[in-house]
Amino acid sequence: MSHDLSPIKWQNLSKTEKYEQLHLQLSGILDQNVDCIANLSNAAALLKQIFDWWWVGFYRVQLNQLVLGPFQGPVACTTIAKGKGVCGNSWNSGKTIVVEDVHTFPGHVACSAISRSEIVVPIYHTDGSIWGVLDADSEHLSHFDVQDQIELEKFCRSLESIL
Ligand code: SME
Repeated sequence: MSHDLSPIKWQNLSKTEKYEQLHLQLSGILDQNVDCIANLSNAAALLKQIFDWWWVGFYRVQLNQLVLGPFQGPVACTTIAKGKGVCGNSWNSGKTIVVEDVHTFPGHVACSAISRSEIVVPIYHTDGSIWGVLDADSEHLSHFDVQDQIELEKFCRSLESIL
């Protein structure tokens, strides 16, 4: 597989086609022989290249808080407490959270004033405990829907093989 994804005109693909490409490209990129930082860095870059969301990246559970991991986009909050914001709530509940308007989400952690909608998907260790979360932010309202939830949960299941 070529690692130069630029020849593909992502903006011309439907959302379904983008997700097909996402899963295909991820299987070619993941490398079981390196640590998770390398793999998650490429996973974040892949999401950014295909979907061009405002911000996309990972937060890891470390010492009972979420700590910023590999991401693409503007500078973000370094730590998030358990139960705080969308990420902290997703960690608490172990469930994906889709937020149509971040201004209506109680306790939303505003890393960027530009962000208007958001999806956060928990990522698990093989023992069932939570490793961290995938967070994607959009500058558009109601940007993420149930298709994004299903596809990004599938994406996270694939990532769990390299943690
Ligand atoms: N908005 C998130 C915080 C992370 S940043 O948006 C990158 C939240 O409420 O958890």
